[in-house]
Amino acid sequence: MAAAGLVRRGAWVLTAVLLILATASSETQRAPPRAPSGVTGFHRGVNILGYDRYWDDPSRGSFRVSDFVEIRRAGFDFVRVNLFVFRHLDPSGKIDEKWLKRLDWVVGTAGRNGLGVILDEHDSGECAKDSLLCMVKLSRVWQQLALRYAREPRSVAFELLNEPGGKIDAAAWNRMVAELLRTIRASNPVRPVVVDSLGVRKMRPGDMAPLPADDRNIVLTFHYYSPYRFTHQGAKFGKVRDVHGVTWGDSADRQTLHEDFDRLARLAAAVQRPMLLGEFGVYDKSGTPVELRAAWVGAVACEAERHNFSWSYWQFQGDFALWDEAADAWVQPIKDALLPPRGANSVDRRC
Ligand code: GLC
Repeated sequence: MAAAGLVRRGAWVLTAVLLILATASSETQRAPPRAPSGVTGFHRGVNILGYDRYWDDPSRGSFRVSDFVEIRRAGFDFVRVNLFVFRHLDPSGKIDEKWLKRLDWVVGTAGRNGLGVILDEHDSGECAKDSLLCMVKLSRVWQQLALRYAREPRSVAFELLNEPGGKIDAAAWNRMVAELLRTIRASNPVRPVVVDSLGVRKMRPGDMAPLPADDRNIVLTFHYYSPYRFTHQGAKFGKVRDVHGVTWGDSADRQTLHEDFDRLARLAAAVQRPMLLGEFGVYDKSGTPVELRAAWVGAVACEAERHNFSWSYWQFQGDFALWDEAADAWVQPIKDALLPPRGANSVDRRC
């Protein structure tokens, strides 16, 4: 009897050990590739102020000091400030001092509230039309911004240009990156600089800008709005304004997301640069149910974290909004998807 009992117990122990080993090995198989850490120390952020009237008249702006406080308190650690600088250049390329003072306020107030800042040059629309003029203007912009913010701590980062594309092909962009980096490095030798490589954005590593090997303060970035027919359905400005009712979340959808992020993480690891997912979100004004939007947003944020990417949600106010201006409150399902409430460990959440 006793011997039979021992055998039975032995069998149980063996089964348990085999189970543990099997789980461990499938976990290892599923462990995703990870981008290198470092450079900024940013993790979770949100895009702010892109289309705010603040820039023309602070008294008519929507963004308030209390928003910085709320953003920090919620658990974000940086903001990506979307800047349309070109329209504030005079004919000689000098940036309007009044506008710069407004930017000083943003940088200072974010910092005082414990938030890192990415100064994102968002003139991609104009740049897409004329790469030469774009380069002239970008050089002037970065000469001035680099000098002005040279003494800021490294928690202020520069992003050369949002979503380079259109008339800027890979060769032109590579030249622009090299030249803009030279300009910035003259006054900011170790400033974190965010570079959207055309190849990274389109996920074609072949086109990627060759970055200076000895410059270890560069962060790669890409934006993720895939599948576009889901994230932009009904958006007035997009190519799918008449599309409605697209859902997301079956296993094929999730598999595509895994594979896209695996590919990007492998790329980041290969070139040994940290990766920032600078924008992702779902258009919110065309009736896509908030639960569905939150499911995509949560899965993408989770996927970014599994791959050791920092991320910034598009965007705080306006469309794709995280903050409901009418209610003066967070859009709770989106906020919870980005920053799972305590108890739901975000690192362990499953994408
Ligand atoms: C880009 C555009 C912005 C748009 C967003 C989502 O950042 O500059 O205007 O809302 O993508 O499509």
